[in-house]
Amino acid sequence: RDRMSIRDYLTEVFTHALRTAFPDLEDKTAAVAPTNEKYVAKFGDYQCNDAMALCKIYKDKGVKKSPLEIAQSLADVVNKELASNPNLAKVVDKIEVAKPGFVNVFLSRVYAGEQLKDIVLNGVQPPSLDKRLRVVVDFSSPNIAKEMHVGHLRSTILGDAICRLLEYLGHDVVRLNHVGDWGTQFGMLIAHLQDTYPDYLTKSPPIADLQAFYKQSKKRFDEDETFKKRAYQCVVSLQKFEPDYKKAWDMICDVSRRDFQKIYDRLNVTLTERGESFYQKHMEELVPYLEKKGLLELDDGRKIMWGDDRGLIPMTIVKSDGGFTYDTSDMAALKHRIEHEKANWVVIVTDLGQGVHFKLLGECGKKAGFLDPNKTRLDFVGFGVVLGEDKKKFKTRSGDTVKLSELLDEGLRRSLDKLKEKNRHTELTPTELSEAQQAVAYGCIKYADLSHNRNLDYVFSFDKMLDDRGNTAAYLLYAYTRIASIVRAAGVNIDDLVKSAHTTPVSLEHPKEFALAKTLLRLNDVLTLVTRDLCLHHLCEYLYDVSTAFSEFYDNCYCIEKDEAGKIKKVHTGRLLLAEATARVMKKCFDILNINTVHKM
Ligand code: ARG
Repeated sequence: RDRMSIRDYLTEVFTHALRTAFPDLEDKTAAVAPTNEKYVAKFGDYQCNDAMALCKIYKDKGVKKSPLEIAQSLADVVNKELASNPNLAKVVDKIEVAKPGFVNVFLSRVYAGEQLKDIVLNGVQPPSLDKRLRVVVDFSSPNIAKEMHVGHLRSTILGDAICRLLEYLGHDVVRLNHVGDWGTQFGMLIAHLQDTYPDYLTKSPPIADLQAFYKQSKKRFDEDETFKKRAYQCVVSLQKFEPDYKKAWDMICDVSRRDFQKIYDRLNVTLTERGESFYQKHMEELVPYLEKKGLLELDDGRKIMWGDDRGLIPMTIVKSDGGFTYDTSDMAALKHRIEHEKANWVVIVTDLGQGVHFKLLGECGKKAGFLDPNKTRLDFVGFGVVLGEDKKKFKTRSGDTVKLSELLDEGLRRSLDKLKEKNRHTELTPTELSEAQQAVAYGCIKYADLSHNRNLDYVFSFDKMLDDRGNTAAYLLYAYTRIASIVRAAGVNIDDLVKSAHTTPVSLEHPKEFALAKTLLRLNDVLTLVTRDLCLHHLCEYLYDVSTAFSEFYDNCYCIEKDEAGKIKKVHTGRLLLAEATARVMKKCFDILNINTVHKM
């Protein structure tokens, strides 16, 4: 078991120990967690704290066992395993029992050295995969003719990072953009297009400002009864895919599509568009499918379907006018993703406000029989609202919604100012400057989003995200560039350095060296954790931990010694190898988060 999450491995070892020592608790799993940084020297690198909880379980059963006794029994089993299992002995140096009932695990220095050597020689590798899953990730998903707003930015950034993580782990990921491109509003858009640009079938209409166009048509729709009637007829014609209507709809969608694409290009995000319209045929088939199963109920002319709790709201599968809804398209989409896309895992990234809708979707999918939780994992990845610095909904000074392209432009302007301020004395070529500008601007915007717990609202602040102190991309990108430059400053050729890993051990004698090394080895722990809860902020916290551990190492351990004249006197290869391993681990984290690094800034 070479490439693994150490934490997961130890969890297995302790679960086995628990069940061996206490056969009456065979349904329990042990919990192993990394020790708080401050106590590592004394209490080891990982801890199992289950003895306290087990003591309580026994107490409730009327059996008296002290936590220390329990911890000792666990330790006895693990020690036996250590003596007989060379794989475990390779990873773990020793275990110790501590009051009131901890079992502390000390990692082996030799093992850490080997793992780091592997990183330098073979690159950072993902933990080995039990099963390659087919994962559909539905993210970004803006609405045609409407603004792509900061909420969609959040969905885009989070969804993309989730895809990149799963791709890195080796899964088969389908990135779907479930754009809102269907429904009533297209009737009014098409009717308005027919009136304003009657020759739209031959000449492409000048509707670059689609939002203004949307507003005009909405106004007419609300004020003019005949227009409204026509709009509804247009919906019917469109849903039958009548060519002229389809053409008008295509034109409208194209305008939005081009705008969205510009944002995706700037953020380096790829997506396959498969909007609500794609599911028209499947929605038509869904209705008799659910009817046959007796799952639809008539309610005031609507056809509805209940989830598990009839006290809550049902799904509306068919409206009283015969049309479909957001609920219908999501049911059809889920069915399609499972049955046609063969997804073992469906991830949907949208704001927390839609939580109830997706809970209901999961329940109805199960009832309808196409979602089997034993075969398909369904995750709703919700996120909080983006707030302005005044803690109110993010708006421009004048109260309008913020245009994403303008937001990105402002990021670019601000990051350039910052770089110029910081780099008065370094010389960057215009290309290097522009690369750094983009890396910092987009990196900061992404990182600010990813580093906040997605379940909370978050305050969008350029000042905070561009601050080069603290857990920000600005700080981390500087830190990374500096680490990468240490090797360069030592005047060693990088290929030669890598080769030297065959003969020179990575230096791990100094406590700060060993501490850094063990932090680097936690990467796979963190990745498996994120895979479980799809919260990217764990990875950001980890990245920050790595840079902190590196600073402490670097402040205490020289990598290069210079004489008074500033000439290099001695190069400490074992430490340069450690610096190189650090740079690679950081780079891997940046890659997963889709943040570009630069050589100079
Ligand atoms: N278009 C929706 C919105 O802007 C998001 C769609 C999310 N995906 C889904 N399958 N419903 O809020």
